Amino acid sequence: MSKAPSLQLDSATLADEYDRLGIRQFNHGLQLLDALALREGERVLDVGCGTGRLTESAAQRVGPQGEALGLDPLPLRVERALQRAQGRFAARVGRAEDLAGIADAHFDVVYLNSVIHWIPDQQQALREAWRVLKPGGRIGFTTMPADVPHDLHRVLHALTDSDPESQHADIGAPNKLTRDSAATLLVSLGFEVTLNEIRAFDDAFDTVDDVLSFSRASSFGNFLSSLPEPQVAHLRARLAVALEAHRGPRGLQLTRRMIFATARKPLAH
Ligand SMILES: C[S@@+](CC[C@H](N)C(=O)[O-])C[C@H]1O[C@@H](n2cnc3c(N)ncnc32)[C@H](O)[C@@H]1O
Repeated sequence: MSKAPSLQLDSATLADEYDRLGIRQFNHGLQLLDALALREGERVLDVGCGTGRLTESAAQRVGPQGEALGLDPLPLRVERALQRAQGRFAARVGRAEDLAGIADAHFDVVYLNSVIHWIPDQQQALREAWRVLKPGGRIGFTTMPADVPHDLHRVLHALTDSDPESQHADIGAPNKLTRDSAATLLVSLGFEVTLNEIRAFDDAFDTVDDVLSFSRASSFGNFLSSLPEPQVAHLRARLAVALEAHRGPRGLQLTRRMIFATARKPLAH
């Protein structure tokens, strides 16, 4: 069942941490922009833009004759996106499910990088993307596959599943897709799928606290938010031990897999 994450747990610290640690999402986001083949002069919408690092790259790719707009429901992240933009792209508060204020068929490209797994009504979000895309426009998203978990989530689930106190802790995003359900979702709305594959990324962290900060900042405070502080401390200690099995030359090495999906709105619409 789809679940809405809280949008009330963000803070200035988490937004700043995301700006620093979200380089991982940025790196796979660049691959999404490559797959979408942005061209100079195009109009691009970054849904769930966070602090706008990837929007900035999209804006560079479409150039001064193009247009880049970032939308995010978290005001503190939009604030940082606007600081970064310095007028080179626009950013404002908004949600994927409601793109009111954007005209039909305005954009050439709409993308969601590491966002769709947070959205409770994914059909509505993609219906809105369809509406604002021109005929022939492209959509793309990256998302964590439900059936091939992140190494960190696998380790955490092994720890929490055996512990009644932390069994129901929020660990990953609540609305994950599989490769098949991602394609089904796109096709159900009329899109023609052009890419649907899983790519692996090897992340490295210095300490268990870096892992936890990354997870908190990326989930805008939802990660482990339901656990009282003493239980978080207990889980942190157990995680530190469990992650030693992942220590390698680059530190704590954790593999993350992402679905890359792109699709086209047919010209006939
Ligand atoms: C992991 S961050 C990714 C940020 C950015 N796309 C990037 O690549 O760095 C997830 C983002 O999804 C946003 N988000 C959550 N629910 C959303 C919704 N319903 N509509 C649009 N964005 C949403 C969050 O506010 C957060 O900024």
